Order: sequence, then structure tokens, then C-alpha cells
Amino acid sequence: MTKKRIVSGMRPTGKLHLGNYEGALHNWVRLQQDYDCFYFVADLHALTSDYADTSAIKQNTVDMVIDWLAAGLDPNVSTIFVQSLVPQHAELNLLLSNVTPLGWLERVPTYKEQRENIHDKDIGNYAFLGYPVLMASDILMYKGEFVPVGKDQVAHLEITREITRRFNGFYGEVFPEPQPLLTEAPVLPGLDGRKMSKSYDNYLQLSEDPASVRSRIRTMVTDPARVRRTDPGNPEICPVYSFHKLYSSPETLQRVNEGCRTAGIGCIECKTWMTDNVLKVLEPIQARRREFEARPDDVRDIIIEGSRRAREEAERTMTEVRKAIKIDW
Ligand code: TRP
Ligand code: SF4
Repeated sequence: MTKKRIVSGMRPTGKLHLGNYEGALHNWVRLQQDYDCFYFVADLHALTSDYADTSAIKQNTVDMVIDWLAAGLDPNVSTIFVQSLVPQHAELNLLLSNVTPLGWLERVPTYKEQRENIHDKDIGNYAFLGYPVLMASDILMYKGEFVPVGKDQVAHLEITREITRRFNGFYGEVFPEPQPLLTEAPVLPGLDGRKMSKSYDNYLQLSEDPASVRSRIRTMVTDPARVRRTDPGNPEICPVYSFHKLYSSPETLQRVNEGCRTAGIGCIECKTWMTDNVLKVLEPIQARRREFEARPDDVRDIIIEGSRRAREEAERTMTEVRKAIKIDW
């Protein structure tokens, strides 16, 4: 029985935070067993908005891959690679751009929204508009059947599906139509209750030092109604409780729920229990990270070898594509 093919990528944001882990990476790790997975660093995508200052992209790529490996992505099971090391992506991007009507790109909701909201860098360039076409080339290159993505990427994936149909319509059935694999990502808010994000100072890094994890959780926002220790609270509106739901046992959840509502426990105590459980999750990941950090050449080799494998697969697809468009020599 051959496994179904999964393709997914992340832009190189550097060291990942716990929200990235719970929302995506942990799922990638689990999917490795049941699918043939291609996971890549979308560094060419990063360039579309960060072309003016590219100085951090390469180091961010390495930092992120180390987090992937530390979290349990296995280069012997999955193909782990860097997009820019597979130049076929640029070629397929060009060919797919021919069959992509401008209107499809202009009406992506995230595109309009970003054009309105992002002012610290220029995104009025051609490549940024073409972002979903590059994404389609990433997926179709490996004939991805499933794409694990968050809700924010569903509109992009829908364009990939439309491009697939249009390409196949002109040139023959070359590509399968990829399906989104929407995971019930558990909700992990940031330390301040907003979405955990690198642009707010409200995150815990996967590689965060345990002492820092403790002190940052100590300053976490709680139910504002609990001004004094004797004020009862409502865990359902407290971000600390959202963490508990992810990391604590049913018994602890029960104790927190009751203790919070009756002012039987204090927030400091409540946070300590939660912190201990978060650290239990981080500990093995951080231990593996230290091992990879001590062997930077091995990390590089993993990236190079995975990218070589990806290029092989990509060239197979491109041979087929060039033939389909009748420009094969
Ligand atoms: N656009 C994705 C993001 O910002 C990253 C990405 C690029 C991707 N190419 C992809 C995800 C292909 C899935 C499949 O998160
Ligand atoms: Fe939040 Fe726990 Fe304090 Fe209740 S006791 S408000 S759940 S930190």
C-alpha cells in the first residue's frame, strides 16, 4: 500500500514558538507515520515581502529546521528541504503563472487585507501578488494530495486547486487536485490572551529556557475579576486555563475549575501547576535541540540531502510538465 503524499511549508521565521508547535508542527510530526511527507522551508516566499533585507533568511532557516528536528520530524521518514535549493519551483511557478488569471490573485482576502495593513515594508511588488502561484508550484511539484494548513491558508489552497484544474484542462491530467487537511488545531492563546504571535511579545519559544518559561508565565494575564486572592474567577476567560486544557490532566483541570470559581486556589499556584506540565512537554524537545545544536554540520547535511531528494522528485515532475506543454527538447 503506497502512502498518500503530503506537502507543506513554513516561511523561515526563525526559532518557533509554542503556538507554531501546537498549531502546525506537532501535527506534521504525527502525519509522518501515515503519509509520505514533503516538508520545506519556504524561503522564496519570505523573499516576496522581505526582499529589501534578506540578511536573516538563511539563519532563520537553520533555526527553524533545528526546531523541526527537535520536535521529531525525522529526515529518514520525511523529505525535509529548503525551497530555494530546488530551482524547479521557480520554473513551475513561471509556467503556472501563465494559466492564472490576475483576478484570482487580486481577490484573495488576505492579499487585500495585507495591502491595507502592512506599512513597514513594500508589498506592492509583482511577486507578492503572485505568492499563491508559487505556493501552487510547491504543492504540485510533488503531486501533493493533501496539504496540512491552517485556516488562514485555505484561500491560497483554493487557488492552487483552481490553477490545477486550469493547467490540466489545457495540457492534460498532469496533477492531482490537492485537498486541505484541516486539523483541529487546539487553541493556544498568547501570554496576554491574544493570538500567540512573534509580532506581539506574548509567546514562549520552543527553545525557551525553563527559568524564563516560569517567569513569563508568572506574568501571564488572568481573569481580571480576580483582583484579590479571595475574589472568585472564571477559568473560561483565562488564558492560563487554555494552557491547562492543553497540558494538564483531567484531575488538575477539575481542581483548577473548582478552585478558581470558589477562590479556593490562587493564580500563582494555578500557574505553577500549568508551568510544570508545559515544561514536561518542552524538556525532551529542548534536549534534542541541544544535540542538533552541537552538530551544525549534520543539520546542514540533513538539509542538503533532503533537498537533493526533493530535486530528484521535482525534476521527474518537470520532465512530465515540459512534455505536457510540448516544449520538451
Ligand atoms: N504560505 C504558507 C504560510 O505562510 C507557507 C507555504 C508556502 C506553504 N508554500 C506552501 C504551505 C505550500 C503549504 C503548502 O504559512
Ligand atoms: Fe486563571 Fe487559574 Fe487564576 Fe483562575 S486561578 S483566574 S484559571 S490563573
